[in-house]
Amino acid sequence: MRSAFSGKIVQLVAALLVLLVNFVTSQDPDIVKTCTSYKKSVWEETSEFSFLIENAPIIYKTLDKCTSYAPLIIGGGPALPKEFPHAARLGHREDDGEIEWFCGGTLISNLHVLTAAHCLYSPQGSVNIVRLGDLEFDTSTDDADPEDFTVKDFTLHPGYSHPAIYNDIAVVRLSKTVTFNEYKHPACLPFDDGRSVPSFIAIGWGQLEIVPRTENKKLQKVKLYNYNTRCRFTADKNDELPEGYNATTQLCIGSNEHKDTCNGDSGGPVLIYHKDYPCMYHVMGITSVGVACDTPDLPAMYTRVHFYLDWIKQQLAKT
Ligand SMILES: *[C@@H]1O[C@H](CO)[C@@H](O)[C@H](O)[C@H]1NC(C)=O
Repeated sequence: MRSAFSGKIVQLVAALLVLLVNFVTSQDPDIVKTCTSYKKSVWEETSEFSFLIENAPIIYKTLDKCTSYAPLIIGGGPALPKEFPHAARLGHREDDGEIEWFCGGTLISNLHVLTAAHCLYSPQGSVNIVRLGDLEFDTSTDDADPEDFTVKDFTLHPGYSHPAIYNDIAVVRLSKTVTFNEYKHPACLPFDDGRSVPSFIAIGWGQLEIVPRTENKKLQKVKLYNYNTRCRFTADKNDELPEGYNATTQLCIGSNEHKDTCNGDSGGPVLIYHKDYPCMYHVMGITSVGVACDTPDLPAMYTRVHFYLDWIKQQLAKT
């Protein structure tokens, strides 16, 4: 009886150790380090204290201002000021200065915006402008710090082949670096593939291709749930998905309710909170096409960012 019990304990401890090792080894140390430095760049302030005595040691004190803006999202609604400082909007500016915004994106460094590859194939023209730091479009009375950046270049994943939405991922490089503040700040790349994450936050200005006229002026957020491999049964094979759902490269996410914000902009992020820094997020997915708006319990497919980490790192390292 007793040895059977302790045998169980040993088994349990061994299982936990395996879990722990798997968890630790799956994290990319560069990405963990970069994430921490991003957090410190805006939310930590180091101040110096010195006593007015000769040769007294200088004391440094770190003030951590990293608090969560909105830890609980029930349903969805408008985003709060500074809540999603990595939210980007991508558009095309005509020669006459008129801008059409048609996709979302995520700031992931001081120069790079992650988006969907299909966004760079827009009928509105190529992406040549990125707006950062905005909350409500077409108003200057909101608590925001909008700034437009021109685009230096962009790279589509080589495996993307229109109209199929596999490898629907691209990196846009801005012409000048972003100065980080509480309104413009990158999201971290994923520490894991998101398989065991129960829920996500999708954000966007709600401009989906399937409902082009119901554009939202305000950034919206919505809570969505992980449907794991359910998309194998719900996703029909079609031109966009000739091989059906691919669980290695795609997330399957949905909602059991009618979400009036739809699922955000295509190209925009699907996020989770950072485990230790409540002011930070990980971009786990990219909103792809074929996202149904009004159908409860019909999950949609998003690009699984974690699968593309090596490719993303190559793009970030390019000079
Ligand atoms: C899913 O995508 C990966 C990467 O492109 C590929 O190697 C794999 O064969 C795909 N799986 C299926 C079932 O199509």
